[in-house]
Amino acid sequence: MSGTWVKRINLRTGQIKTRYDGQFDQQPKRRQFRDVCEQDDMRSRPFSVTADQPRILLSPPDVGEAEREALLRAFDTGWIAPLGPEVNAFEAELAEYTGAESCAVLASGTSALQLGLLAIGVKPGDEVVVQSATFAATAFAVVHAGAIPAFIDSDKSTWNMDPDLLEQFLEERAAQGRLPKAVMPVDLYGMLANFERLEAICQSFEIPLIEDAAEALGSEGQQRAGGAFGSCAALSFNGNKIITTSGGGALLGPSELTERVRYLATQAREPALHYQHTEIGYNARMSNLLAGLGRAQLAGLEAKIERRTQIFNRYQRDFPQIEWIPSTHTERSNRWLSVGLLPEWVKPADVCADLDAAGIEARPAWKPMHAQPVFESAEMIGGEVADQLFSRGICLPSGSAMSSDELDRVLQALNQSLNDRSLQI
Ligand SMILES: Cc1ncc(COP(=O)(O)O)c(C=O)c1O
Repeated sequence: MSGTWVKRINLRTGQIKTRYDGQFDQQPKRRQFRDVCEQDDMRSRPFSVTADQPRILLSPPDVGEAEREALLRAFDTGWIAPLGPEVNAFEAELAEYTGAESCAVLASGTSALQLGLLAIGVKPGDEVVVQSATFAATAFAVVHAGAIPAFIDSDKSTWNMDPDLLEQFLEERAAQGRLPKAVMPVDLYGMLANFERLEAICQSFEIPLIEDAAEALGSEGQQRAGGAFGSCAALSFNGNKIITTSGGGALLGPSELTERVRYLATQAREPALHYQHTEIGYNARMSNLLAGLGRAQLAGLEAKIERRTQIFNRYQRDFPQIEWIPSTHTERSNRWLSVGLLPEWVKPADVCADLDAAGIEARPAWKPMHAQPVFESAEMIGGEVADQLFSRGICLPSGSAMSSDELDRVLQALNQSLNDRSLQI
């Protein structure tokens, strides 16, 4: 007998039917799958580029002639330093775009978070509440500041910090007389947290809130911009972000805070000819050249959001069986990454492996911090939602430079993967 009984799932209705399939035995064997999450970082793999089909990346930089000219303009002024007219102009433009009082541009988003924590008064040994479902840099910044992260689960309606769990946790800590020194929610994949509640809770306990808006430049909610919530907020211009300076970040907030961050980021140098220091400083300012690049990128931000939104809309239209990221408190998302929860019968890492074989980069949703070996002894409040996001979430190619043909390639490969995998259940 060359056939077998197989289960087939209707991808739209989710209905499972069993039927005899004479072809099944003759299908080429799929390559053995190992859990992608346990493999080496996919970024470190060589690109599988073929002559006619270059690899499609998750979120590569989108740069062109405007960026080249901006870099040369910055170069020609002679300011090849971590200060200069492009730095000042980029800071002013970011503050204006987000509605923040002031901005300090820095070497990375991680530095922005770390220096923001120090500037609001976090000291070694203090506790900082952090969203577990995030990229590790959020929690690393807390550790770099000498503080101890306590992780909180997300809520299903935002995928970001759960206000109810935060409130309960702060009540318990208040009863013990040891309140945390800061709370750090994240705007995961560009979607805003429930700041209406989170800000109110933090205010009632008089704890500063730092918004990790690394992924959310251009998003809007409650008539405010991503990066405009809390006591201060951090942005990232890492190579995979919606705008990039190849590497860089910014702290947004009141002038006294950004002034203090600029001072700390400039080796805590005091205004004396002989280099006077009364505090430990950091070398974390953005160079004038990169600020020039950032300004050109910022000028193209609206077009990048538009393209990423078109890409997300195609995924959403073509794959109704995927539970797409909710936008409960986000009036406009920058759609930094198109992320969704796959149906329970298929593993994100299997789909990533299929797409990888087709020359397409995809990733499982970020592994939550409470499940990371490096934080295994950290406190965790809840965890079911973050675990679910990780076990079912997939991040799909979303770059604003992706062509229509490339998007079609991704859609076809994803469709093929889900069809093939449905035959295996
Ligand atoms: C949520 C989040 N926080 C912080 C960072 C750190 O930013 P950077 O890579 O610029 O240090 C990133 C991105 O890398 C991020 O995605």
